[in-house]
Amino acid sequence: MLDFDGREIGSERLGRSFRLWALERHPAQEAPKGDWRVWLLMGGRGSGKTRAGAEWVHEVARRTAKLRIALVAETLGDAREVMIDGVSGICRIARRERPEFEASRRRLVWPNGTIAQIFSSEDPESLRGPQFHLAWCDELHRSIVSERVNLKSAA
Ligand SMILES: Nc1ncnc2c1ncn2[C@@H]1O[C@H](COP(=O)(O)OP(=O)(O)OP(=O)(O)O)[C@@H](O)[C@H]1O
Ligand SMILES: [Mg+2]
Repeated sequence: MLDFDGREIGSERLGRSFRLWALERHPAQEAPKGDWRVWLLMGGRGSGKTRAGAEWVHEVARRTAKLRIALVAETLGDAREVMIDGVSGICRIARRERPEFEASRRRLVWPNGTIAQIFSSEDPESLRGPQFHLAWCDELHRSIVSERVNLKSAA
């Protein structure tokens, strides 16, 4: 049996490969096709929003070197506890080319040099200055309702 990269799957890798996100995800968790700038994923509690975001960010990050990514949550604690270390967070779902979290610099670093920095919508001014190729905002409505994030600066 071959995996998605065309490599032979040995018995030790078989179980791991069956958990590939491409096989597990629901249609609504698949990123839109074509040239898009904003992917808004709305769903009920536990519907898989965070997991879809984490899987997409990790896939883009591990495939593209030296990207700069913003991870935005309502608080820095949410960013760390949900988007990075949570059950659906990047560090929990990453199966290969796993990033390291540098707590002192509040950032994830992938082996290929891609970096994701965490931000809080409580401090929207912190998004001014640094430049990013892309941003993932979890629970965006909490930031928008409180009018703390200027979408232009987060996008
Ligand atoms: N396609 C899937 N297959 C299997 N498990 C999944 C899938 N999508 C999500 N999960 C799991 O379901 C649980 C809930 O997912 P997730 O945390 O992404 O939901 P959520 O919509 O962000 O929830 P909340 O509304 O609480 O923020 C997690 O354990 C996650 O790993
Ligand atoms: Mg969530």
